[in-house]
Amino acid sequence: MRRPLIAGNWKMNGSFASIATLTTEIAAKSNQLSNIDLAVFPPFVYLPKVTELLADSNVKVGAQTVSEFDEGAYTGEVAASMLKELSCRYVLLGHSERRHIFAESDEAIMAKYQKALSVGLTPILCVGETLEQRDSAQTLPVVQRQLAAALKLTDNSPSLADVIIAYEPVWAIGTGKTATPEQAEEVHAFIRGALNDVSPELADRTRLLYGGSMKPENAEQLLAMPNIDGGLIGGASLSAEKFIEIGKKCNK
Ligand code: PGA
Repeated sequence: MRRPLIAGNWKMNGSFASIATLTTEIAAKSNQLSNIDLAVFPPFVYLPKVTELLADSNVKVGAQTVSEFDEGAYTGEVAASMLKELSCRYVLLGHSERRHIFAESDEAIMAKYQKALSVGLTPILCVGETLEQRDSAQTLPVVQRQLAAALKLTDNSPSLADVIIAYEPVWAIGTGKTATPEQAEEVHAFIRGALNDVSPELADRTRLLYGGSMKPENAEQLLAMPNIDGGLIGGASLSAEKFIEIGKKCNK
């Protein structure tokens, strides 16, 4: 049985004060959710403070990206080892904003993926198609391409246990448009099948999250789908109340 994960991607939002308030509110309410995992992804500069505020809670912390390099002359980058030092558990990789605004390639994402695994961070690999790709029936091939390199790495090192995949249709991110539960489930089942081709055990244990305008009003139907094991939530995770409300929908 896969334990659901509800993850909040705070993106480049907040201030020191507002992030501290949001974190404290989430920590206080998180004990209502003992059957699921919770995680938040603050901007880098707030990681130490958020980690400190969550120390006595069951909410874990992750970073929004990581460098593909180990250390050295890479201005502006943050190494996987540094995130590990800050007690990060997870790292988001290949988020569509990284792919589309910052032109991250599948190759760069895979280099980051390897660095994350090498220090024991759990990567949450984001995949998903644009509206144009969906309209031209390219959804599954695009997702397959984005997954392929990661699966190969995992295949080569089956002991690299804990990876998470987030299906985030680009057209649903921050737009208020959500994939229907059936649309999301179709892609999740496809991803599960691709994992199964590598190893049934990997397919069985890997959590698949849905992301893209998930909110309290639509979470229940999405989370009821057999291959949806949680959510990656942007906008709604900036409200402790909404974030916890989504958690309650899968804390069964
Ligand atoms: P959204 O963002 O919930 O605001 O659509 C999701 C994400 O980008 O991870």
